[in-house]
Amino acid sequence: MQNLCINLPGREYEIKIEKGLLKNSGKLIKELINPCKAAIVTDSNVAPLYSETLISSLRENGFSTALITVAPGEGSKSPETLSVLYDKMLEFGITRGDLIIALGGGIVGDLAGFCASTLLRGIPFVQIPTTLLAQIDSSVGGKVAINLPQGKNLVGAFYQPKLVIIDPLCLDTLSDEIFSDGMAEAIKYGVILDEQLFEKIESYPSRTKMGEIIEDVISRCCELKKIVVEEDELDTGKRMILNFGHTFGHAIEKRYNFKDYSHGQAVACGMVMAAEYGEKTGITPLGTSDRIENLVLSFGLPTKIDIDKESLLDAIKIDKKGEGNLVSLILSEKIGKAALVPTEKGKVWIW
Ligand code: GLY
Repeated sequence: MQNLCINLPGREYEIKIEKGLLKNSGKLIKELINPCKAAIVTDSNVAPLYSETLISSLRENGFSTALITVAPGEGSKSPETLSVLYDKMLEFGITRGDLIIALGGGIVGDLAGFCASTLLRGIPFVQIPTTLLAQIDSSVGGKVAINLPQGKNLVGAFYQPKLVIIDPLCLDTLSDEIFSDGMAEAIKYGVILDEQLFEKIESYPSRTKMGEIIEDVISRCCELKKIVVEEDELDTGKRMILNFGHTFGHAIEKRYNFKDYSHGQAVACGMVMAAEYGEKTGITPLGTSDRIENLVLSFGLPTKIDIDKESLLDAIKIDKKGEGNLVSLILSEKIGKAALVPTEKGKVWIW
């Protein structure tokens, strides 16, 4: 088993990575938290696949459980669904001495985590991510949130989990599309922090080939996230580089009402746009956007999506990396090195 520790004073936690770990999750949680009530939040895609294994493991270890299933998709990261969760948790009789477990992808993790951070002013929380995107990014680092009609993740908190349990076998049931969403984030880590990782992914350019090294890729991405989060937990500096491709990506998601393109697809295209922008402004070496484009294409991700100037500027206006008239664009100085470039909001338009 690979073990990483996120060292945040007073909020340390481990990330455990191993194939088949889900069936031992009750034991792993019990090593940390005495048996109590565990409210599991999942969605209706994941519930039939993995909830029984988790519930059995928790019960064998003395936990009592409630399973709360939400609809799959971004629509569940809403104030309405959050309110339903509060109701069900209180009905279950949850207290601050109990536990909330997120079993699913990034949407479930963000929603359950935000619920945990606010209900009764905070309930201990464990992440069991089942998508690649959640395993390498959203389950680590404590960002939890819901969306508002005005934009994504506009209400949220930094609320670190007590434990992250990653079972790469859960990836076997993902569609190619959802697997590729995660690959967009893995490629992002390569672009912003680790040229070797980028090259490694270039050497395994398909889902089938990636299967041979997936545990190492997950572990390396979590290690990179650990380094960034330990340096800047609250996202005021270095952590912003994790948003490479996300400013343009969020604009795409919003323009298409969070329906036509998934987060990973939007980020894949956003990374190519950010690299092209960097090349045109002289920050990014020529040829970088082509290299990123070829790699995201090999995982079936889109690299060109129509977006009008107004949609882009609207998204930039409410970008959380903005202050006053400036937004911090994350660009690539070269593969493996990101740069934060303050840019006037109204001027981010080059096409
Ligand atoms: N997913 C970006 C972050 O955790 O900061």
